[in-house]
Amino acid sequence: MTLADVVNTLLIPPGIFRPNEGSIALAETALEYNGKFLELGTGSGFITIVLYQQGKRGEATDISDRALRCARGNFARFKVQARLFKSDLYQEVERTYDTIIFNPPTSFNEDENERVIKNIIKSLFPSLISRYISAFYQWRNSPAREAALLDFIRITKDYLTKGGRLLLCVLNADAIYLEENAPHYVRISRGRNTIDNTLLTVTYR
Ligand SMILES: C[S@@+](CC[C@H](N)C(=O)[O-])C[C@H]1O[C@@H](n2cnc3c(N)ncnc32)[C@H](O)[C@@H]1O
Repeated sequence: MTLADVVNTLLIPPGIFRPNEGSIALAETALEYNGKFLELGTGSGFITIVLYQQGKRGEATDISDRALRCARGNFARFKVQARLFKSDLYQEVERTYDTIIFNPPTSFNEDENERVIKNIIKSLFPSLISRYISAFYQWRNSPAREAALLDFIRITKDYLTKGGRLLLCVLNADAIYLEENAPHYVRISRGRNTIDNTLLTVTYR
């Protein structure tokens, strides 16, 4: 079964993010690492399910109750016994991990209604139109998102074990911004590219 097949077997109600090429790239990259992982913003639970199926162990979070319900259901169907908890980024995270994985939202300030509406629009419209809608939304939120991503990269250091890494899937333009503006103690290397996204591996000196 390919990872795209796994996506098709998940139960994903309207309003929950449907795993895309970026999610698949993140899952495949995370499989290269051992140790305990943390997936922030698990959505349908896809990445954590793939990792558990391949014998990796870790925990998953989301800020959204709706997403947590969806992930809990999918975990049960795939017999994944990962701890799943509600947290706004690292707010409820109390330990360190070897790998932290995040496919972040296009806006860090969106509320549950915006999240649900955005995901429903994406699922209703043909892919080309929903691509234009997403591109507009992404462009409108660029400055705030880039600043939030930079902050996120800084604070992640406190939640990684020594030698650990952050795997982040960002828009191509954001990848350039982060490479140019990351603090000196951060090393960013590029992984797989999709049409819209770049996978970044972030480590800390
Ligand atoms: C782009 S989706 C990615 C979902 C999943 N990781 C995947 O790749 O299929 C972003 C997810 O992050 C969650 N999220 C948004 N803001 C968050 C925050 N501040 N803390 C934790 N999760 C958040 C959303 O509810 C959503 O499920």
